[in-house]
Amino acid sequence: MLYNALKLLHLLSIIVWVGGMVFAHFFLRPAAQQLEPPLRVALMHGVLQRFLAAVGIAVVLALTSGLAMIGMVSMGGGFSMPADWNFMSGLGLLMMAIYGYIYLALLSRLDNAVAQADWPAGAQALARIRSWVSMNLLLGMAIIVVVLLW
Ligand code: HEM
Repeated sequence: MLYNALKLLHLLSIIVWVGGMVFAHFFLRPAAQQLEPPLRVALMHGVLQRFLAAVGIAVVLALTSGLAMIGMVSMGGGFSMPADWNFMSGLGLLMMAIYGYIYLALLSRLDNAVAQADWPAGAQALARIRSWVSMNLLLGMAIIVVVLLW
């Protein structure tokens, strides 16, 4: 029961994180491209500030629930991690490091650009955020495909 509750928490966190990236990448950004740079950069900044803060919580919950499940299964001793769990843990940690870079380095660059109404710098920061979010989206999809098809 506890294990299932942890798995539910894990999956809900992943849904918020990966689902939010799909929405931002495939639906929000193409529609926002129609707007003038000041409006587009300000809109994307407002969305990303809120989304990336929520992802911070999702990352903590996904990591702690994942580690807790590993802890529960390994408690009996003689445990060796299945290959798909190793794959998920390795790529999951990489996704979290990329998220940390986006949140700590790129979002502050975007914050500064918006505060100074420097729209070209804001557009540049957004383009970098987009590339790293695409990378995380690919990694997240790879994890989901591997753990569900393995
Ligand atoms: C370091 C981070 C992570 C750790 C330690 C971790 C660990 C785990 C563990 C122990 C399970 C339970 C597996 C089972 O009971 O069969 C699980 C399930 C799952 N995880 Fe992760 N995980 C991490 C990150 C991620 C990420 C980033 C994703 C997707 C983007 C992900 C997607 C899933 C999915 C879809 C399941 C359900 C698999 C199933 O029930 O067959 N995990 N995770």
